[in-house]
Amino acid sequence: MAVAFAELHMHLEGALGPELIFALAERNRVSLPYSDLADLEGRYRFTDLQSFLDLYYANMAVLQTAQDFADLARDYFRRAAAAGVQHAEIFFDPQAHTARGVPLREVLDGIVDAVAASEREFGLSSGLIASFLRDQPVRDADDVLGEILRLQAPIIGVGLDSAEVGYPPTLFEDVFARARAEGLHAVAHAGEEGPPEYIWQALDLLGAERIDHGVRCLEDPALVQRLVDERIPLTVCPLSNVRLQVVNSLADHPLRTMMQAGLLVTVNSDDPAYFGGDLGENLAQLRTQLALTDDEVEQLARNSIEASFASPRRKAELLGA
Ligand code: ADE
Ligand code: ZN
Repeated sequence: MAVAFAELHMHLEGALGPELIFALAERNRVSLPYSDLADLEGRYRFTDLQSFLDLYYANMAVLQTAQDFADLARDYFRRAAAAGVQHAEIFFDPQAHTARGVPLREVLDGIVDAVAASEREFGLSSGLIASFLRDQPVRDADDVLGEILRLQAPIIGVGLDSAEVGYPPTLFEDVFARARAEGLHAVAHAGEEGPPEYIWQALDLLGAERIDHGVRCLEDPALVQRLVDERIPLTVCPLSNVRLQVVNSLADHPLRTMMQAGLLVTVNSDDPAYFGGDLGENLAQLRTQLALTDDEVEQLARNSIEASFASPRRKAELLGA
């Protein structure tokens, strides 16, 4: 990649690949329900978001110590830097760890360590976004936000992820208001499997500054107009959409339609270890299967920097790179 990219939609736990799962299971003496690597790899066929989430949460059992989270994050940063990512805003799921008895402090210590190392080693800037699990009680999200604030966790924002349909943004209005009052940025997954109405709610009730996925906005012309007029970024994840059967194939992906509609779209890997590749692989496959041009790729790179929460100074630096 000649131009600098920012990756804005990547779940750290979604970078946990089969080899690291086996290595951490051995280190932490966690017994896995898979006979070997091939057995695990054979389970990466998903029919929808929930079928993926079942494996995604199960595999997190191997993440126990700060060192595990540091190893995971270092692995992601190394691959991302090699693919031309110079700025990354990374989701992590605190509740998925605290619910298993892993203290938030442990999770943060590991990630923060890797963030500092990636800045030193690769010049890669980054920010952390704590995501609330929308399919868990709102009370749990509020508790974890309280813990984040108590620990003065170095995060830039909050997000909303996990199973979407049946868990509308409206449930989380108060938690997001509290986070925003503390000066945190707000983003939310919406319009991945859920209807355009969830995107409206994320904007109007959660104060979301970016929409994660958002591909279903195309079903609602008034919503598209709003997103275009307000330059609200959509962090689109093409390979994820194919693997979770949100679209039939990459050739059918609406990315170009979205760009041509004037939407501020970015391309991201979502869960690179589960969906067949990192940001570079998403772009490479879009070039071959959607005939994405150099100009379009450069536009996506500029979009990613504009859509990021990097400082104006860092944005200028990245745009000039
Ligand atoms: N958590 C990790 N990946 C996700 C996705 N694609 N949608 C919702 N929640 C997620
Ligand atoms: Zn996601």
